[in-house]
Amino acid sequence: MSQAGKSIYLVANWKSNKTLVEMEAFLQQFRGYREEGKSVNIICPPTPYLKTARDIVNNLHLPMKVGAQDVSAYPFGAYTGAVSAGMLLGITEYCIVGHSERRRYFHESNQEIANKITQLLELKMKPILCVDTPYLESQLAALEPGQKEQLIVAYEPLEAIGSGIPATPEEVEKVAEQIQEITQANIPVLYGGSVNADNITSFLNQTQIQGALVGGESLKVEGWKAILRQAATI
Ligand code: PGA
Repeated sequence: MSQAGKSIYLVANWKSNKTLVEMEAFLQQFRGYREEGKSVNIICPPTPYLKTARDIVNNLHLPMKVGAQDVSAYPFGAYTGAVSAGMLLGITEYCIVGHSERRRYFHESNQEIANKITQLLELKMKPILCVDTPYLESQLAALEPGQKEQLIVAYEPLEAIGSGIPATPEEVEKVAEQIQEITQANIPVLYGGSVNADNITSFLNQTQIQGALVGGESLKVEGWKAILRQAATI
């Protein structure tokens, strides 16, 4: 079925990869790149590179947004090492929160993630909340009233992340419907887990899937460009 007209979010989650020089080289290869289709293309490099990424995107007039991969659950203050939402303001418009790697390696709780969302929303930044099954209900329950409507949610089944074995578009569509039911809000639901240029359209062709969160393939210039190109055919 054609999904023409729906907004599509394509989020490049670079995780803890690339040097600053490699990031600059990556973005330089988009020089002259013009938007194809209507997707919102969001690059999320590591935190120390965000300002440089933003400057390059602005200077080259790249049709890209810059997003962060995480944010502190606390505001400005005595929180050594923390990067607060206020520090991201003016640099990023989007921020991934609750990625399964943050939950697993950094032991982030649903409440801490909800607090991060509060910090972002207070400054009118857009949280991209990652969830997985079978925990959808609890992962969404800690949010305060009025917050769910303001999210982008990315469904990322653990076994699909970095494995080369994505979920099926039909499975993801069902989960996206569940997310809409639980949130009772018509919010964008993205899919993440082994997305590449060959499979992206099979997800985007589903009614409820409005984009993708891409790890490995977003690190390669050609991989990312190919994904953007395929998404533009929807
Ligand atoms: P992947 O990662 O595309 O490498 O599977 C996705 C993610 O973890 O966001």
